[in-house]
Amino acid sequence: MDERMNRYYEAADYVKGKLEGRVPLAGIILGSGLGKLAEKIENPVVIPYSEIPHFAKSTAVGHKGNLICGELGGKLVCAMQGRFHYYEGYPMDVVTLPVRVMALLGISYLFVSNAAGGVNFDFKVGDLMIIRDHLNLLPNPLIGPNLDEFGTRFPDMTRPYDLGLIALAEEIANESDITLKKGVYLASTGPTYETPAEYRYFRMIGADAVGMSTIPEVITARHCGIPVFGISVITNEAHDDYDEDYVNDGDDVVKAADAAADTMTFIFTSIIEKL
Ligand code: HPA
Repeated sequence: MDERMNRYYEAADYVKGKLEGRVPLAGIILGSGLGKLAEKIENPVVIPYSEIPHFAKSTAVGHKGNLICGELGGKLVCAMQGRFHYYEGYPMDVVTLPVRVMALLGISYLFVSNAAGGVNFDFKVGDLMIIRDHLNLLPNPLIGPNLDEFGTRFPDMTRPYDLGLIALAEEIANESDITLKKGVYLASTGPTYETPAEYRYFRMIGADAVGMSTIPEVITARHCGIPVFGISVITNEAHDDYDEDYVNDGDDVVKAADAAADTMTFIFTSIIEKL
């Protein structure tokens, strides 16, 4: 057996021990400043990443580092309060390990979220964007020997984000007078924010929002056939000019994400309730 499988099984067995035979319906990955959703989880079992074999440390600002399992919208979910990023120096196998562990726990859906810069001129700070598609400028996490236990060598990516879940989110938003944008998320390595030329370039190649995460986890989930729903919270607007009094700042990003976290929590919870 590929030695990566041993790591996934060891981590999954540890979490399974805490779930006492229950199988989560959904995995949720909470991005920068979006950890608040975890507070809405009922009867939570909180598992610090430091306790789970082979989980890395969460070093990014606004990422707490707990796996929280419990009920949301009446269903059992496992939520990652913080994720691992390529820019932290972790190899892709470490970045995506939690998704494979959640796959082994038996999740049927993956919900992903992130803080992102808006490069679409129509996007303003505080907007929520349903991720319709992505542009991956990070290394592909499936590079290397294929793990046939999870999926095929050449996974289809025609519908990376589940159309049924997107329709459900739009229905929920309509009923509740919530405006959701929809667009393409681009991930680059970070940790630098973009230069004005890079923001212009990303817009030109079809991005609506830009960040430093999410796509590795989405690719890993799609590899093993798990439907994905994703939301980007727009935390800053791309500056195309060399305006002297503007800077991108990580703390502002976390604050803006935190301010929009309740609406994102509502959307995720309402979808899960209907699954
Ligand atoms: N660029 C990259 N990552 C980000 C941004 C951005 O503007 N905002 C939040 N995460």
